[in-house]
Amino acid sequence: MTGRMRINQLINSDTPLNDVTVSAWVRTRRDSKDFSFLELNDGSCLKNIQVIADESLGNYGDVAHLTTGSAVTVYGRLQASPGKGQKWELRAERIDIISRSPEDYPLQKKRHTDEFLRTIAHLRPRTNKYGAVFRIRSELSYAIHRFFRQRHFYYIHTPILTASDCEGAGELFRVTTLDPTDMPRLNDQPGHTDFFGKSAALTVSGQLEAEMFALALGRVYTFGPTFRAENSNTSRHAAEFWMVEPEMAFFDLEENMDLAESFLKQVIGDVLENCTDDINLFKKFVDPRLSEALDDILSHDFARISYGEAVAILEASNFDFKFPPTYGHDLQTEHERYLTENYFRKPVIVFDYPADIKPFYMRLNDDGRTVAAMDVLAPRIGEIIGGSQREERLEVLQRRMKETGLATEDYWWYLDSRRFGSVPHSGFGLGFERLLMLLTGVTNIRDVIPFPRTPGNIEF
Ligand code: 4AD
Ligand code: MG
Repeated sequence: MTGRMRINQLINSDTPLNDVTVSAWVRTRRDSKDFSFLELNDGSCLKNIQVIADESLGNYGDVAHLTTGSAVTVYGRLQASPGKGQKWELRAERIDIISRSPEDYPLQKKRHTDEFLRTIAHLRPRTNKYGAVFRIRSELSYAIHRFFRQRHFYYIHTPILTASDCEGAGELFRVTTLDPTDMPRLNDQPGHTDFFGKSAALTVSGQLEAEMFALALGRVYTFGPTFRAENSNTSRHAAEFWMVEPEMAFFDLEENMDLAESFLKQVIGDVLENCTDDINLFKKFVDPRLSEALDDILSHDFARISYGEAVAILEASNFDFKFPPTYGHDLQTEHERYLTENYFRKPVIVFDYPADIKPFYMRLNDDGRTVAAMDVLAPRIGEIIGGSQREERLEVLQRRMKETGLATEDYWWYLDSRRFGSVPHSGFGLGFERLLMLLTGVTNIRDVIPFPRTPGNIEF
């Protein structure tokens, strides 16, 4: 065996190994009379490997003074460990010290608060909890791609720079090359034009572009960053977050709901299977009810109720809501939580919302008052997915755009898709971080994002 190995490979080895090379960071060092014991972690798994260093090493004097956070490369043999709690240990034949960390390394052996760790985001992933969060984040991404690939979807990249507030989904971050200290009023001053010749912004959703590709490739999905300048400093909103947006030609609302439900079940199941150690950390230290909560999601059909039924349940509940539920208003988080945590005790899909509280592109139902929308609500999280069947009828779509005050000229390309071979189609958007929160029991969205961006916060 040659070449550098990852610690997860060593931990899972079936046999002892000679000539092992490992590069990693020192978590702790403990000395006995003739030995130093180093606990090393290289980020590949939760577990550390224990290295036995003895006096025969040429640089033993330096090794015996290694500090937490230092980086080393160890050459040696993987052998059965007589110690308890671990199968293998690494007997060092040579240790190269790559860099030595000073004594004031900010991560101590004790547990740090999430708030403190957010202030050292460059070191946060070296802790057990955050290493686990970001390994799970990676695995979940992979599971999402696998799900769509198995169902014959194509992965498309929709633009991050856009020229319009695609759908009024949220507040825009403007993009400009103009000098902020000398900002001409756009269009007011002839000759003074911005980079694109019109105002541009960061995307709030790739949906409209995904629709164009669904109407060509049939089934597509986007998975990328989206940006919303919502000034809501909540634990579930970030200014930059990732969204997964599948879009399917020839799918109606029910097929859309079926896809959303099997999607959530499959990707959650995949992560539970492939990240057992990391998930167990959250079950043990973050949310003791996590196992049960995830089982509830995997082992039952989601509830499906219309918006009208949802409001009726809420009104009949006698629950002391801060905002009393009324037909025609958006469901509040407290309403979503009541439905998922108190009433159904599992995820709930709410469909057929009043047209007035949903965007123009959702398909108008035959009643003329509701649209073929669907939101998936999850316990503890609230809305995790928002989607709909899309309005495929040109005249209805134009009318709805005018009603909601959108300039139809700006959307000529979108409207064209309803002229040339329009078909019923559907799609949804999943908040990737909200799914991670559901999977780990982490309650603040900042703690599942490598470098979170929220109002007033863009350090790092
Ligand atoms: O419900 P939303 O706004 O739907 C759309 O943007 C549609 N265009 C999606 C589609 O049909 N293709 O957002 C979708 C999901 C929400 O359900 C929520 O999980 C998440 O995106 N989300 C946020 N996550 C983190 N921070 C924010 N500020 C979020 N805003 C929405
Ligand atoms: Mg929504």
